[in-house]
Amino acid sequence: MSLIGILKSHKTKPMMKGVILAGGLGTRLYPLTKITNKHLLPVFDRPMIFYPIQTLAGAGILDLLIVTGGNNAADFQRLLGNGKSFGLRRLTFAYQRGEGGIADALRLAEKFAAGENIAVMLGDNLVEKNIRSALTGFRHGARIFLKAVANPRDYGVPQLKSRKIIRIIEKPKRPPSRYAVIGLYLYDNQVFDIIRTLKPSARGELEITDVNNAYLQRGELQHRIISGWWADAGASPRHLLAAGQRVARQ
Ligand code: DAU
Repeated sequence: MSLIGILKSHKTKPMMKGVILAGGLGTRLYPLTKITNKHLLPVFDRPMIFYPIQTLAGAGILDLLIVTGGNNAADFQRLLGNGKSFGLRRLTFAYQRGEGGIADALRLAEKFAAGENIAVMLGDNLVEKNIRSALTGFRHGARIFLKAVANPRDYGVPQLKSRKIIRIIEKPKRPPSRYAVIGLYLYDNQVFDIIRTLKPSARGELEITDVNNAYLQRGELQHRIISGWWADAGASPRHLLAAGQRVARQ
């Protein structure tokens, strides 16, 4: 192919597809989530689910699947319509039964991904900055994003050796580093084969940390430190409040 042909094919190549995981039952936020879905709760001036949609759309990811679950799944459609108000080209939904874990929810995205790379974001995660540059150059394997936090034991935590991740531990009692693995992941199509090999963890869930460790074992896990603030709004009522205050301050 000529140089012009290569440049043209890069220009016209569709951006990565996006998947937002908004299933689960949100029991840590009871009674707030007893009659509604966690991702419809307000974070300052808008529903929680708006933030990951805006983050992915802001990076040019305009073909989105939202995996919902639990209560009031139909309200997502009432709230978001066809996604045009976010500039989306296509918005589709899937429904996860029960609370089988983040990787169990991601399983439902296999047909949507149709062999392409995907950017996955947890529906309760907020990032301050545009993530376009975080996607640059991703072709193969997996890429995860880290943020130094005061309370790493609430998250997936990487153990590092000379700046290389040697393993990731989910909610460790004694965190091996001060970093949290945030809820933004880039995966190639191997992710679905990896999920098929997973066994439920002690809390009965298919863990996204096990997916990332599987990529690590294959030597195909990259990581980046993310700039700007990051918030997990869904971990507890205090996290929800802190995330709202974070947004209000900016
Ligand atoms: O926020 C980052 C952290 O998110 C990571 O550091 C952890 O490694 C990762 O396991 C996850 O931990 P959490 O305990 O915060 O995950 P949580 O159960 O709150 O689920 C996060 C989102 O994932 C939730 O808002 C919706 C989606 N989810 C979760 C479960 C359990 C689903 O779609 N289905 C599920 O079954």
